[in-house]
Amino acid sequence: MAMTYYTLGNSGLKVPQLALGTMTFGTEWGWGADKDAAREIFGAYADAGGNFFDTADAYTGGTAEAWLGEFIAERGMRDEAVIATKFTMNLSATNPNAAGNGRKNIIRALDGSLKRLGTDYVDLYILHCWDRLTPPEEVMRTLDDLVRAGKIRHIGLSDVPAWYASRAQAVAERFGYEPISALQLEYSLAERHIENEFVALGTRYGAGIMAWSPLASGLLSGKYRAGAQGRLETLRGSSNPGFQKFTERNFAIVAELEAVASEIGRSMAQVALNWTLTQPGVASAIIGARTLAQLQDNLGALDFTIPPALRERLDAVSALEATFPYSFFGPEIQGGFTGRVTLGDKPATYHPDLALTASFAGVS
Ligand SMILES: NC(=O)c1ccc[n+]([C@@H]2O[C@H](COP(=O)([O-])OP(=O)(O)OC[C@H]3O[C@@H](n4cnc5c(N)ncnc54)[C@H](OP(=O)(O)O)[C@@H]3O)[C@@H](O)[C@H]2O)c1
Repeated sequence: MAMTYYTLGNSGLKVPQLALGTMTFGTEWGWGADKDAAREIFGAYADAGGNFFDTADAYTGGTAEAWLGEFIAERGMRDEAVIATKFTMNLSATNPNAAGNGRKNIIRALDGSLKRLGTDYVDLYILHCWDRLTPPEEVMRTLDDLVRAGKIRHIGLSDVPAWYASRAQAVAERFGYEPISALQLEYSLAERHIENEFVALGTRYGAGIMAWSPLASGLLSGKYRAGAQGRLETLRGSSNPGFQKFTERNFAIVAELEAVASEIGRSMAQVALNWTLTQPGVASAIIGARTLAQLQDNLGALDFTIPPALRERLDAVSALEATFPYSFFGPEIQGGFTGRVTLGDKPATYHPDLALTASFAGVS
């Protein structure tokens, strides 16, 4: 399997389509890999040509960053590695300024991450989650200062509303700050809501989407249909909405995925990952694995194409309900804005966003 590299968003940073997630590095949360298994997973990914590692200060209480830094050093690959890490979460239970997205925490959190990772810079520094408090002006100015200080190279946003990301990118443009190169968001056959806003935002304004939980925390591997245990069983009843996947709708998606995967002769995980990776706007899918066998299965997601007729079945079973205002962007309403004349298809290279709108609106 060959890793194809792309530049991330509008930046010059070259990253492969598959990033390696490290949220499973450490057993502190009750569902991760021990150190030997994590080292094997890391080694197999690097052997396959991967260099893009995603972590966060809060993962497994700091263990994930510490092990990642150690594995990178053992392999002597700090220069070729692209390390993405994140701030926002609180590693100190009682200090309100040791969390969130204010300047005081961003600088404090970065210092902690650099220590744990054993490095003096981070390649991609990401706001982990909107704190509903800090204005984008403060975040973007602080991140730009850190780029200028040589402590981070590029910046990204995760788990924010689209209006916030759009405003942050506008602030960067207005003041000449480092722009956002990556939007890290949950995206899979089971969670497609980012298609409403973030795909257009990312493609228009230069941020590549890094898809997290591309297997919906393991659901799309199909193992729960077969009665196997896994993270989602361990976390049944958790208050984290990302782990509430056992719904009728999701099991209908799993059933169709199983049928499609069997027709292609691929594992369900490979087909689910391939679908995410080849969706518009996606720069990388962040693969998660608890065992070496899972990682090896997932690395096989790249070297095949889902035939169009089968892809249509996956698209149909997982399609989003058209809620307002997106319900106004279909052919019935939009057709009226073109006088119902027949428009020729624009070549995608002419203006990708207009080409997308025309085909979505059903005018051709
Ligand atoms: N920015 C954010 O808010 C955010 C949030 C979540 C994750 N992330 C990033 O995204 C990365 C990936 O997320 P994720 O771990 O949730 O990804 P995922 O691919 O949706 O789930 C990974 C889990 O699914 C199971 N699995 C993986 N491959 C499998 C296979 N081939 N067959 C059967 N089961 C398999 C394993 O869990 P079990 O075997 O234990 O069931 C594994 O830990 C994380 O490591 C992290 O870096 C970011």
